[in-house]
Amino acid sequence: MLAAATDHFGGVDVLVNNAGIYVISPLVETTLEQWNKLFSINVTGVFLGAKHVVPYLAERGGGSIINLSSVAGLLGAAGHACYGASKGAVRILTKDLAAELGAQNIRVNSIHPTYVKTAMADYGAALAGKSLDELGRDMSELGRLAEPEDVANVIVFLAADESHYLTGAEFVVDGGGGASILSV
Ligand SMILES: NC(=O)c1ccc[n+]([C@@H]2O[C@H](COP(=O)([O-])OP(=O)(O)OC[C@H]3O[C@@H](n4cnc5c(N)ncnc54)[C@H](O)[C@@H]3O)[C@@H](O)[C@H]2O)c1
Repeated sequence: MLAAATDHFGGVDVLVNNAGIYVISPLVETTLEQWNKLFSINVTGVFLGAKHVVPYLAERGGGSIINLSSVAGLLGAAGHACYGASKGAVRILTKDLAAELGAQNIRVNSIHPTYVKTAMADYGAALAGKSLDELGRDMSELGRLAEPEDVANVIVFLAADESHYLTGAEFVVDGGGGASILSV
């Protein structure tokens, strides 16, 4: 894929590790098969993407790797042992790579969204027995869930030269949901 992108565009400057799957499951009901599958996509996928893109970015004099973690990679939640652990791994992998690759002018940052209006939020809302609007009111100080564009805009910024001094950082896209300890 990297060779094809280089042929087509003349080089690769940015990798967005976006692919991921979401499982909510109580610990004792979570199977090893579920755990291994989720980690192979959410964590090993990020490792492999970064490992293979680095030579291409280095050849261009630097670049940007953007990893999709989650607010579940910052704090715990019931039923989230598998998914949360995978997103926590992405958070620290991001910082490890930032430390290792900075000298090559390769920046590595993580993004931590709350529920975004995609299939994942539909799944979470259904399990919580709530509508997306109710979930948005519960989880955000802005009273609404994130739109995909709210995350995409941060990705665009981290891909652009305007963010050239940012690496190893966490970008929380949660509508202020993690800013307070109590909702009344
Ligand atoms: N939507 C949310 O509420 C939310 C919140 C926090 C973090 N995230 C993270 O954002 C990222 C994008 O999620 P989304 O909301 O767009 O979810 P989504 O389910 O709408 O899309 C996930 C994408 O990953 C792809 N994918 C899954 N397994 C794959 C594999 N083995 N190989 C290649 N592609 C694969 C799917 O085809 C799909 O296009 C994920 O890493 C997710 O964990 C999402």
